[in-house]
Amino acid sequence: MPKKQDKRELTEVFQSSDKIYAPSKKIIKEANVPDYEKTLKNAAKNPLKFWEEAAMDLTWFKPWEKTFDDKKKPFYKWFVGGKCNLAYNALDRHVGTEIENKLAIIFEDENGTEKKYTYKELYFEVNKLVNALRGYGVKKGDRVAIYMPNIPEISMAMLACAKIGAMHSVVYAGFSSQALADRINDARAKVIFTADGSFRRGKVIDLKSIVDEAIKQTKTIKRVIVVKNNKQPIKFNKKLDVWFDDFIKGQPTEAKAAKMDAEDPAFVLYTSGTTSKPKGIVHVHGGYPVGVLRTIKWVFDLKGDEVFWCTADPGWITGHSYIIYGPLLAGITTVQYEGMPDMPEPDRIWKVVEKYNVNVLYTAPTLIRAMMKYGAKWPQMHAMPSLRILGSVGEPINPEAWKWYHKYVGKGKCPVMDTWWQTETGMNMITPLPSAPLKAGSACKPFPGIIADVVDKKGKKVPVGKGGFLVIRNQWPSMIRTIFNNPERYIKTYWSEVKGVFFTGDVAFKDKDGYFWIQGRTDDVLKVAGHRIGTAEVESSFVSHPAVVEAGVIGVPDPVKGEVIKAFLILNAKAVASDELKIEIIKHVRHNLGPVAVIKEVEFVDKLPKTRSGKIMRRVLKAKELGLPLGDTSSLV
Ligand code: WT7
Repeated sequence: MPKKQDKRELTEVFQSSDKIYAPSKKIIKEANVPDYEKTLKNAAKNPLKFWEEAAMDLTWFKPWEKTFDDKKKPFYKWFVGGKCNLAYNALDRHVGTEIENKLAIIFEDENGTEKKYTYKELYFEVNKLVNALRGYGVKKGDRVAIYMPNIPEISMAMLACAKIGAMHSVVYAGFSSQALADRINDARAKVIFTADGSFRRGKVIDLKSIVDEAIKQTKTIKRVIVVKNNKQPIKFNKKLDVWFDDFIKGQPTEAKAAKMDAEDPAFVLYTSGTTSKPKGIVHVHGGYPVGVLRTIKWVFDLKGDEVFWCTADPGWITGHSYIIYGPLLAGITTVQYEGMPDMPEPDRIWKVVEKYNVNVLYTAPTLIRAMMKYGAKWPQMHAMPSLRILGSVGEPINPEAWKWYHKYVGKGKCPVMDTWWQTETGMNMITPLPSAPLKAGSACKPFPGIIADVVDKKGKKVPVGKGGFLVIRNQWPSMIRTIFNNPERYIKTYWSEVKGVFFTGDVAFKDKDGYFWIQGRTDDVLKVAGHRIGTAEVESSFVSHPAVVEAGVIGVPDPVKGEVIKAFLILNAKAVASDELKIEIIKHVRHNLGPVAVIKEVEFVDKLPKTRSGKIMRRVLKAKELGLPLGDTSSLV
């Protein structure tokens, strides 16, 4: 039976050539932030006051003395003198309140296995793990690597580390053993959490053997804690390995949270940059949760009893902030789904939404486009009446995908929040709120308390409609604090390109209404299915094949994945170009980097376009590949 027309339907108004999706009266009336423009204005008058108020949503062991300190800029400090703990705020403080019996995590895997944890149950599990880790000698300031599927135990491991004050370093389980080893070595991690394996598209991913390979190349790992997840046989090394269940067995269910300084690091998360070495982005105990909690509450309009499903993986910042910490900080229910959204059939994702009455669905354009390909009939088979808000993240969403998402998933009544942000920013930065007028394909305006702009190389504002560098003019609590082990690179990457502002590495333009339209990265970082990967990393992997002497890598547009990789390779004199060699080289790179590297094509060439200083001009490769104008080639030799 067709449902009665919902009053919350978004009304559509045309404003010159930009179609505006205006929020309905009902949405505005019910929103946490009913007056969008006024809220933006007020926050802009005094961003520090705005963030100070947001910080009061957390529990502090000791209040801060100074909200913001820029004495050692760009090493900014927030809530100086305050004492707190990220895990305490996400978990402990809900125990003893009415939240404790609410579900914290709903888990389902591809095969349909279900697990649920209330806040109280999760609290007990985390405490056992805290005690076990402490007993093993993990303490404040240590680093713990995590290489796990999207299962409740990854949340437990992260929370336990945070509770102790040890930094977790989660490495996405789609990375190769080499990539994992590099990250373990940079962080000098002492312990690693993993699982026997994971199911994906019906196939087994053998995580434990990838970890075994990786730790052969590391010296610091002293313990491997293995979750029995899919019960596949593993090589068990008695000296190193311990089953997760045995590790926590018999441990007390209470444990005290370490009293952390607001500026103490909470975690490191590696991401790609312009060199082949990944950067360890550092976030802290105080400011990070302030930004995450305020954004999740406002962008997704949380009332306190939501079921929230962010389809990312915990191995990315999206997962850190909006699968795990955000929902738990807000005391709502988060969904962890381990598997593919189209297994066994293309409507698995919509089935999960209906089964658990998901209120907020937060996903990526690449997934939306994959679903579009299967056709609207799949979401049309499901009414999904629980859905209130939709979110998009990871790459620019094309207007067609936005409209499809809005129409067929949100049934025309759920506002779509296109959230622009980065591993470095920790939280949503440019995003509408549900009470804002929307434009399909635009991330709209900066979140209250954030001042963003589009400028040229010299830092000068560019005119309306003209492309330029996206920068952030002010500071915010959940911002990156440094690059682990590499403060110089932190200064150079983010605070030196354009003087006095945070350099995002993205290109964007602003329209006449002040809406931001993100165009993508400047040329050396790719976004493959929303995953960030550096051209330099891919190139160095190509060059590590014995037949390859030089490589130039570009992203080429792909209708589903956004971008895929094309490589131009120069072979050494002895190598014979052939299709077999191409396949072998692609295999080598996939093995080297892991399945995140989606290589569409390789082409053997005699030379690569270069600057006088020998830098490969990827821009020229790209223009030629796509038949675009070459642009300024004055530096080309
Ligand atoms: C880069 C950051 C933080 C979310 C997950 C990715 C691109 C992210 C959007 C968006 C256009 C977007 C940018 C950014 N990006 N969200 N809504 N519209 N582009 O985190 O791996 O650190 O990647 O993702 O290029 O710089 P990340």
